[in-house]
Amino acid sequence: MEVTVLVGSQWGDEGKGKIVDILSDRYDFVARYQGGANAGHTVIIGDQQFILHLVPSGILRENVKCVIGNGVVIDPQALLDEIQFLESSGISTKGRLFISHNAHLIMPYHKLLDQINESGANKIGTTGRGIGPCYIDKYARKGIRIVDLLDRNVLKEKIKLNLEEKNNLLKKVYNHAELDVEKIINEYVEFDKQIDQYITDAPSLLNNAILEGQSVLIEGAQGTMLDVDHGTYPFVTSSNPTSGGACTGTGIPPTKISSVFGIVKAYTTRVGNGPFPTELFGDEGEELRKTGAEFGATTGRPRRCGWFDAFLLNYSRMINGIERTAITKLDVLGYLDEIKVCVGYEKNGKKLKSYPTDISQLENVTPVYETLKGWRQDISGARSFNDLPAECKEYLSFISQESGIEIKIISVGPKREQTIEL
Ligand code: IMP
Repeated sequence: MEVTVLVGSQWGDEGKGKIVDILSDRYDFVARYQGGANAGHTVIIGDQQFILHLVPSGILRENVKCVIGNGVVIDPQALLDEIQFLESSGISTKGRLFISHNAHLIMPYHKLLDQINESGANKIGTTGRGIGPCYIDKYARKGIRIVDLLDRNVLKEKIKLNLEEKNNLLKKVYNHAELDVEKIINEYVEFDKQIDQYITDAPSLLNNAILEGQSVLIEGAQGTMLDVDHGTYPFVTSSNPTSGGACTGTGIPPTKISSVFGIVKAYTTRVGNGPFPTELFGDEGEELRKTGAEFGATTGRPRRCGWFDAFLLNYSRMINGIERTAITKLDVLGYLDEIKVCVGYEKNGKKLKSYPTDISQLENVTPVYETLKGWRQDISGARSFNDLPAECKEYLSFISQESGIEIKIISVGPKREQTIEL
């Protein structure tokens, strides 16, 4: 049975929410494998807009079951707000949403430490949602997991132990007021009462479903270039959004993965700090940002915008093993007379053979561009490939050839119906 991994191919915000929504009615399960409420997946159905941070957007299809995998870090308040929002919008989560017992919990000190770190000299430009500090505790083997909620004594003991250390750090290093242990314990006990019904042994649930012939779409958050191993380190998130993370983040073994689907925006954006070789500045960048409404779904921050980078996409294809892609926001480029596509990088006059992820190199490359003719028209009403202007088809053919990708879905607007399947 089909088990597909869906990844963001650039720096996140490729429009994964919409494509997961389109694809999810072909799957029995949609499972999220990493990240947390730093993600913001926007789906528009009719006149209603849904922005989901933790729950996979498959929840919007009533026959689909959704899993928050063990690789995700869960902010209790963000999760409860989202469940409440879905229920009040008439979308039932009962019996359809499952939370892995091995997922880690974001604690109040994680958010605080994220904000304190970001106020120092080494700013990453994080979302401030406590993601990095939570993964630090996970790998330091001090984390508090969903399963710990099931035994009050274990939970209290773990919170007490963690707070002893964190309060010391807050007081002695950061000169910050201590956090109240009892208040935090009460908050998390309260949280458990509300999410207890969703807690599951998710690896068994998913693997049994696959054995019974059911299909799974494994959904990543963020994007390849934000991967802690393969991205533009240190300007990355603290998890593995690349396809490799799908196995560790859900408990589905590599032998069960059938294919990898990449989501690619028709141009490039990035939120937060770090190198971005094809970035556009001044009026050019501003116009692309405005036309594409490039403002973060989680933080509202303006996204940095730039030309499509085929060299980067080639790297992303290699790291993820991307076979098929969906290209999103193609309609946004309709205002341009000419469109540039980066086909490689040069350093000291020499063309680079492979993608440099060392930022000291990446900060000093010169992108090599090819210029294509723009189509200068609104394509948001196109419903088949033949409705697209010749220059637009040329653009698609050029970027797929340069990046080595096969385009299977073209999105020409945020609505479900603004989608062309090839
Ligand atoms: P963190 O994930 O909040 O720690 O942030 C680390 C980096 O990843 C920052 O540059 C963020 O702007 C970026 N980031 C985190 N989540 C997203 C996302 O969903 N879309 C785009 N960028 C993100």
